[in-house]
Amino acid sequence: MLHGVLATCRSGFEKECAAELSACAALAGLSGYPQTKPESGFCVFYLNEPSGEKIFAQFDWKSLVFARSVFCLAQRALTVGEDDRITPLLANIGDWPRPLQKFSRFIVESADSDQGRELSVFCKSFSKPFSAALKKKSLQAEIWDEPVSAGAEDRCLHVFFSDYSTAYIGISVLKNNSPWPRGIARLRFPSEAPSRSTLKLEEAFLSFMDEDERASSLSPARRAVDLGACPGGWTYQFVRRGIRTTAVDNGSMNEKLMDSGLVEHLRLDGFRFVPPKTVDWMVCDMVEQPKRVAELALRWWADQSARRMIFNLKLPMKKRWNEIEDIRELMSAELKKSGRPYRLLMKHLYHDREEITVYLGPNG
Ligand SMILES: C[S@@+](CC[C@H](N)C(=O)[O-])C[C@H]1O[C@@H](n2cnc3c(N)ncnc32)[C@H](O)[C@@H]1O
Repeated sequence: MLHGVLATCRSGFEKECAAELSACAALAGLSGYPQTKPESGFCVFYLNEPSGEKIFAQFDWKSLVFARSVFCLAQRALTVGEDDRITPLLANIGDWPRPLQKFSRFIVESADSDQGRELSVFCKSFSKPFSAALKKKSLQAEIWDEPVSAGAEDRCLHVFFSDYSTAYIGISVLKNNSPWPRGIARLRFPSEAPSRSTLKLEEAFLSFMDEDERASSLSPARRAVDLGACPGGWTYQFVRRGIRTTAVDNGSMNEKLMDSGLVEHLRLDGFRFVPPKTVDWMVCDMVEQPKRVAELALRWWADQSARRMIFNLKLPMKKRWNEIEDIRELMSAELKKSGRPYRLLMKHLYHDREEITVYLGPNG
């Protein structure tokens, strides 16, 4: 039986993560309560009554905004002695129902917070003896330390340390989790890219679409519009794939990017620009009121100006969760009216700070 979930998040966003897990549980008809601490980088949601494996799908990473990664707890927080952590951990796993003991990967992890980073060295060194101990118990699993293309059945054992003697243990279905261990998208910054925010769009492509969708929607035959494009970090993501891009911004574009011959730079207002015919992509990184950007995207969807969109919503300092809920409600209601099947996903990406990234595209 599963006792709840643990989600990691950006340090400082624990309140939003807790509100979201509570809302997600309520929607699934599950009662429980969140537990978190400011700046801890994670949140636990305990169920009042343990549940079956259906919660793997109910707390799906893709549908959560603030969870960087998520796993279901097979046990409430476990206190482990600092001189022998392996024995109690293995004894506990040995008591789990058989299906839960089937995992092909494992990870020993901590939060992305000040305390968590201090623990990460220990987690790394603990992985090796822990792996050997699992093997001895015929629970062989490979360490999950890089993105894997997971099958529907692939599961991962999580051992999450919140301090040196407290462990949260459980399982995630890798398909329902972030592609990156701990939800930390380690992407190489391309030296020729004009700005670091290029990594945001790359992470968004990898987070919101599978390999097949990426291959078809990001082929050189596609056309893109980038609103608020300067100096060109997002445009660069299209250009490096050979995609012709219209960059709309009053600022200056990176010269090398312009030399590619694939970019048309228009010094216009992104809120007024309308493409002469449907494009494959509209992306938008304009710093504006989130509602105004959401309404702009809805207009592009209603007019079929773009097939797919990725845009940032800058978050207010307070009531960030309420703002997201309001915008999602507004967008869902309007999108339903359009009658076209859509997929709306929102994520606080690893490379996002005070903002979230939204994907809107066709469903199927
Ligand atoms: C955060 S920067 C974009 C960075 C860009 N995505 C990159 O990767 O290099 C925001 C840009 O939005 C532009 N911007 C703000 N309001 C705009 C508007 N109404 N129309 C067009 N551009 C706008 C600003 O000039 C600025 O260059």
